[in-house]
Amino acid sequence: MDARTSRYHDVFAWAQRDPEGFWAEAAQAIDWYEPAKKIFDPQTGVYGRWFVGAVCNTCFNAVDRHVAAGRAAQAAIIYDSPVTGTTRVLTYGELQREVAAFAAVLQDFGVGKGDRVVIYMPMVPETVVAMLACARLGAVHSVVFGGFAARELATRIDDCAPKLVLSASCGIEPGRVVAYKPLLDEAIALATAKPQACIILQRPQLAAPLTAGRDYDWANLRSRALAAGKTAPCVPVLATDPLYILYTSGTTGKPKGVVRDNGGHMVALRWSMQYLYGVEPGEVWWSASDVGWVVGHSYIVYAPLFHGCASVLYEGKPVGTPDAGAFWRVISEHGVVALFTAPTAFRAIKKEDPKGALVGKYDLSRFRTLFLAGERADPDTVKWAEEVLKVPVIDHWWQTETGWAIAGNPVGLGMLPVKYGSPTVAMPGYDVQIVDESARPLPPNTMGSIVIKLPLPPSCLPTLWQQDERFRESYLSEFPGYYKTADAGFKDEDGYLYIMGRTDDIINVAGHRLSTGGMEEVLASHPDVAECAVIGIADAVKGEVPCGFVVLKAGVDRPPAEIEQEIVALVREKIGPVASFRLAITVPRLPKTRSGKILRGTMKKIADGAPWTMPATIDDPAILDEIGSALKERGVVGA
Ligand code: COA
Ligand code: AMP
Repeated sequence: MDARTSRYHDVFAWAQRDPEGFWAEAAQAIDWYEPAKKIFDPQTGVYGRWFVGAVCNTCFNAVDRHVAAGRAAQAAIIYDSPVTGTTRVLTYGELQREVAAFAAVLQDFGVGKGDRVVIYMPMVPETVVAMLACARLGAVHSVVFGGFAARELATRIDDCAPKLVLSASCGIEPGRVVAYKPLLDEAIALATAKPQACIILQRPQLAAPLTAGRDYDWANLRSRALAAGKTAPCVPVLATDPLYILYTSGTTGKPKGVVRDNGGHMVALRWSMQYLYGVEPGEVWWSASDVGWVVGHSYIVYAPLFHGCASVLYEGKPVGTPDAGAFWRVISEHGVVALFTAPTAFRAIKKEDPKGALVGKYDLSRFRTLFLAGERADPDTVKWAEEVLKVPVIDHWWQTETGWAIAGNPVGLGMLPVKYGSPTVAMPGYDVQIVDESARPLPPNTMGSIVIKLPLPPSCLPTLWQQDERFRESYLSEFPGYYKTADAGFKDEDGYLYIMGRTDDIINVAGHRLSTGGMEEVLASHPDVAECAVIGIADAVKGEVPCGFVVLKAGVDRPPAEIEQEIVALVREKIGPVASFRLAITVPRLPKTRSGKILRGTMKKIADGAPWTMPATIDDPAILDEIGSALKERGVVGA
């Protein structure tokens, strides 16, 4: 690890000096039907577009070209499911056969270029097949995470108006089978944009009744297509055409539809496998996330397949399936060379097996690197992982919006020295700056807003689905000429970034991004609630968990505990279990400024036991003591 021997600085400087030359070179690793007319066109789109005029197909690059190059017998997807006791390997040849047949099934429903398809599915190989089948047809998939409730699914269906919804009878959580079908039915009933049909994968753990005339059995359609020898060819699309929409939490209850294009996405992701992650084609790669999140899209499905790797699809947890040695078992059984997960997974393992005793039971000799992202990697967890695994542990920082790392430690270019608490340096193509409220650059080691100078590099969102104006307002207008990451932090004198927290109301719960504003909307909808505030409070495993404060309407005389229970249930029903909303606290009033703004930041500091100062503009200082006492009563440790 020597900053002088890494090629990073040269490569980064090249991308800054000549972005078009740099990305044109990276684009050589992708197969195009027609090359780009312009590598970057500043006149197209909201802030310009990459690979304008190029014609390509994402599925071809992920699957068919590897088969054509003689890799048909190589593993592409290794499905490892401790919750069902199954392991299944799909080779590139088998994947091509499945995807081409399933794309033909979709075609029979009239799905073609530009049509949307919502995928609400668990971590099974069919989900990957479905995503790739959409890509094959130039249809736009939108995967919705299984831990979201019906209302969240309905919002997404309404926003992207899919022709089809693909789902399964159930997901499997440790100790609990989650029936998807009732959630799907409710979502469709709630949605105004009704899909034409649903294709349902019946899992042996739970059969779902199918709605006549609307629902079709996945296995039947698949086997009929295969028996008839039906296949759909890859449909050429423009590099700038959308590949997928992935909804992510915004500052209101209405999620943002992040759009990913075909061309830039392939180029940046393929580049990252080689130079950031340092992985070779043919090697086994594992991203322990969920296909419902961006990490799953990019690094369970697309990037490893673009690069010709075998990708592990893990339907299990870091602990409890069956124990805290689960990750080591998967690594040793499948010969994983690099693992990418969220720090929360390691905190969960560390809690159950603090000495890492279970590591010794497995052969991890092929394992080279651990990558962490999704939330701040606390130095304690990073050091613990280094000690027990004896491999470099690399924190890297990115967002749903970018689709790949903004900052990281480029293993393939030669690792830079690790500084604990920092996801290292900006990746090529990102001009990351720390600025004050007037967009003026700040000196090293000074906290400020983290922004990226436009244009963003390939793979980053060109806009929000059919909402250019919301895209501009949310990301581009506050700091003209820059993209606002909504993260705050600083850069040191060596250019190492430190990401300290969000500047908006987003919280990060077990690596899942959630909007406290969205939760407040749910709390406020309870008939007995007059006012509310939701904050994220520190949690030893999940990083942060939400905590809701409610003020009841005058005249409500039911026991507060009963109402609090209803509120907890309401968040689970409206947003989903993924919100991990378990703590609602009734208080007589909320602390506010004289102008009526709720002091959420101060409440959070009190809850976390962090130093805080009395805000000068506070209306009534005594209220903060009331909040502190209420938190203590409920056993919140920091308060
Ligand atoms: N479908 C249905 N429900 C789901 C779900 C899914 N796909 N995923 C999670 N849930 C449920 C869980 O069962 C849990 O329900 P409960 O309230 O009944 O217990 C709830 O949503 C909260 O889930 P989670 O926050 O994941 O907590 P957990 O206690 O089940 O597990 C960890 C904690 C740390 C083990 C888990 O978050 C994890 O494995 N994280 C790995 C990192 C990761 O995937 N990050 C994503 C971005 S990289
Ligand atoms: P998501 O869009 O769900 O990937 O969440 C993105 C947000 O997660 C970022 O804006 C950060 O706030 C946070 N985040 C992701 N990775 C890191 C990291 N390595 N360090 C600190 N915060 C991170």
